[in-house]
Amino acid sequence: MGKQLFNDPHLSADGTIRCASCHIPDKDYTDGRSVAIGVYGHSGTRNTPSLPSVEAAHETSFFWDGRRYALDKAVLDPLTNPVEMGLRDQAQLLRRVQQEPPYGRAFAQAYPDAPQAITTDHIANALVDYVRSLKAPESPYDRYALLADASALNPRAMLGLALFKGKARCAECHLLKGTPPMLTDHAYHRTGVGLDAINQHLPALTQAVIERSLQGADIGNRVATHADESQLGRFNVTQDPADIGLFRTPSLRNVSHTAPYMHDGSVATLDDAIDREVYYRSLEAGRPLQLTVEEREDLKAFLQAL
Ligand code: HEC
Ligand code: HEC
Repeated sequence: MGKQLFNDPHLSADGTIRCASCHIPDKDYTDGRSVAIGVYGHSGTRNTPSLPSVEAAHETSFFWDGRRYALDKAVLDPLTNPVEMGLRDQAQLLRRVQQEPPYGRAFAQAYPDAPQAITTDHIANALVDYVRSLKAPESPYDRYALLADASALNPRAMLGLALFKGKARCAECHLLKGTPPMLTDHAYHRTGVGLDAINQHLPALTQAVIERSLQGADIGNRVATHADESQLGRFNVTQDPADIGLFRTPSLRNVSHTAPYMHDGSVATLDDAIDREVYYRSLEAGRPLQLTVEEREDLKAFLQAL
């Protein structure tokens, strides 16, 4: 039932967008765009994350700013986001699902003990089960780390792994622990991406966010329709000034297949993303790092094995 829901365009305002329009199975459940495009051709403000890493990385908060702490809440959000699937509210979602006979059958099979009608809880539940069932194929690094297969990584990737853990310090945030490796620390960091554009009017922008949060406005709908506010990142959730411009560390699983990069999709290629991370992370940590062209290629070979 979750798979059916995931692939159903009738659950969008204009009847053309389904979850799989943006989380495209052939693109590791991303869309290859810098920012997502939803109903009526509306653009969002954020890059579509890959879904198999949700389960692989044991994510406990969702979206680039971690605004949801439960997956069964997160999976319903896109349905009523005005620039994603655009339904008016969950009541409209429920009507659409209840009107379609195939769901009646799938529902009866999936929840034999449930009362008569499908509820939004069932819909969320089915979508969660589906998202959690998505698995990235076994990677060369999986074979290397989990099966102790030393030949799984080519010599370049081996050098890249040493840099990733050592001199380049990538593994401080993109953790290698876990089975499969999580490649994230589940924490938020300043990104250096996108903040320049809003620095000029930061006070007005943060003030507006605080006022609206007091009125209980929906964060997800707001950030998807306001590019400036979206760049405030974690601040939108906590309203703590220390969180301005912080974003969740993304898992790097399958990262060579999920271009473009970063929360706003503003970095086009893996080479650019590596350059940016090498430069910015080392600058931020106060230990500027010089990597040769060769070493960057090694890092890339390792990322391609993830
Ligand atoms: C219009 C494109 C689009 C559609 C349609 C869409 N998504 Fe997404 N999805 C995104 C974007 C963009 C994000 C990141 C948003 C953010 O972080 O603010 C996202 C994030 C997510 C996340 C959080 C992943 C993480 O790593 O935190 C989940 C789960 C998810 N989507 C599931 C779904 C499901 C289920 C559907 C269908 C009901 C769906 N999406 C429909 C674009 C889309
Ligand atoms: C201080 C924590 C931290 C360190 C250290 C770090 N990263 Fe990141 N990385 C992040 C965060 C946070 C993002 C998301 C930034 C954004 O979206 O604006 C990110 C994004 C990325 C991305 C883009 C992923 C995507 O799906 O968009 C790549 C590739 C990447 N990092 C590689 C590296 C490499 C290579 C290193 C080592 C040179 C490194 N990172 C070091 C926290 C870190």
